Amino acid sequence: MDMSMSMSMSREAILQVKGMRKEFPGVLALENVDFSVQQGEVRALVGENGAGKSTLIKILTGVYQPDGGELLFKGRKTTIAGPLAGQQMGISVVHQELNLIEDLSICENIFLGRPLLKKAFPHLIDWQLMNRESSALLERLKVALDVGEKVKNLSVAQKQIVEIAKALSYNCEIMIMDEPSATLTENELQVLFDVIFELKRQGVTIVYISHRLEEIFKIADTVTVLRDGRHIVTGKVADTDRSELIRSMVGRSMDNEYPKRSGVIGDTLLEVSHFTSSRLKDVSLQLKSGEILGVAGLVGAGRTELARAIFGADRKDGGTLLLRGKEEKIHAVSDAVRKGLGLVPEERKNDGLVLGMTLRENISLTKIEKVENSVLLSPAKELKLSNEYIQKLRIITPGPEQLVKNLSGGNQQKVVLAKWLVADSDILIFDEPTRGIDVGAKYEIYLLLNELVQAGKSIIMISSELPELLGMSDRIIVMHEGKITGELSREEADQEKIMNLAAG
Ligand SMILES: Nc1ncnc2c1ncn2[C@@H]1O[C@H](COP(=O)(O)OP(=O)(O)OP(=O)(O)O)[C@@H](O)[C@H]1O
Ligand SMILES: [Mg+2]
Repeated sequence: MDMSMSMSMSREAILQVKGMRKEFPGVLALENVDFSVQQGEVRALVGENGAGKSTLIKILTGVYQPDGGELLFKGRKTTIAGPLAGQQMGISVVHQELNLIEDLSICENIFLGRPLLKKAFPHLIDWQLMNRESSALLERLKVALDVGEKVKNLSVAQKQIVEIAKALSYNCEIMIMDEPSATLTENELQVLFDVIFELKRQGVTIVYISHRLEEIFKIADTVTVLRDGRHIVTGKVADTDRSELIRSMVGRSMDNEYPKRSGVIGDTLLEVSHFTSSRLKDVSLQLKSGEILGVAGLVGAGRTELARAIFGADRKDGGTLLLRGKEEKIHAVSDAVRKGLGLVPEERKNDGLVLGMTLRENISLTKIEKVENSVLLSPAKELKLSNEYIQKLRIITPGPEQLVKNLSGGNQQKVVLAKWLVADSDILIFDEPTRGIDVGAKYEIYLLLNELVQAGKSIIMISSELPELLGMSDRIIVMHEGKITGELSREEADQEKIMNLAAG
């Protein structure tokens, strides 16, 4: 990429920041960052976990105030006093975590907290107008959804669309999306991409953050790379390629994104027979020691439910579970943990972490559950373990005493992983283990997974990223509507076969 690009692109910028600086206690999140976008452009923003991407967009949307630098909107120097001020200027953001209220309708969510009132009777809500306006927004996005539908009945992709419609409802000129694709599967991505193309056609400027680099080549015109809070390069997507992008992001080249492993696959460790529940239909599988079993499927296919049923987190109506050939009754998570099972959940904020606790405390939680009151870990031991995993997983933090809520999204995800790696389970179920994790750190995680199976442990890996499943699994099962629709060996598996089975 040509460094001079960043200069020429500041021409006619709709939004421009110069010399941006943002500091948190013990962390310099942004240092002298220049960034500008032109109207109608789709700009990808990439970088490792903790590089400063979310911090930058929080400054652009008025969530944070910068400690230095200036911000120009349509050529005019300005400050964005708060999120509302940002929206009123025409800068909207779709955050990675969905912020919708499940029990309200699409229309109610779009106009949440600012209902449209009847002109003649300003104490009355004008439902007709709100319905019309929200239908018009969805039409603008070219998606057919009933605005009266409750959000809880929508798929994740559809919820994402509602978030986008909500962002659009503020007469938005710049739409910033922070990892919008993280919860979508390959098939659903196309819906999001179509919406982005449509917005672009209408002249909306888009800033798109993602760790899935292949997306950037599909939708973005230009890309900006941040590293350690600094601007590394901005250039045209057409002038770069994946390996160059990775090099700019992580500061070294990576020839192989999936490390080879050399273990032997042993005897059957886990046998699940005829699992049945409200979401599972007669699911059976076997897992051998030293094996990584991949689980593919669309959102809602029952993959997470299967994981939770094995782990004793959800009730099941029928089926048996054998560990090393012996039937075990696992009714609760504590049973599972005691029998050597671990589940790294996909929802890090709900199931995985205590955000108000420190990294050290979070990492020790599972271990404490496991030893069950007999011996608590000494603070010194906790500290040693925490430091070990901060290094192993390259968690970006000032230290083990940092509160988890202050870590970047990807680094929080690494703490969830660390927590379960510390627990030393024989069978680990990973639900979307690398969601939101940068390419460099993914590699470190894959190395750890390899280490685990080479030591004779077994892994079930649920993932929506097909390249990851194909790169890491010994075997892949595919689910559709609660059933297993097929099983593929490493040799026979490819993207197309998996997608066909996933579609039922
Ligand atoms: N409120 C905060 N208090 C303290 N530190 C913070 C806070 N918000 C962010 N940071 C730190 O600033 C740095 C940049 O974080 P940021 O969230 O911008 O990263 P990111 O590029 O979005 O990463 P990810 O890909 O993991 O989402 C990180 O080291 C993070 O821990
Ligand atoms: Mg982020």
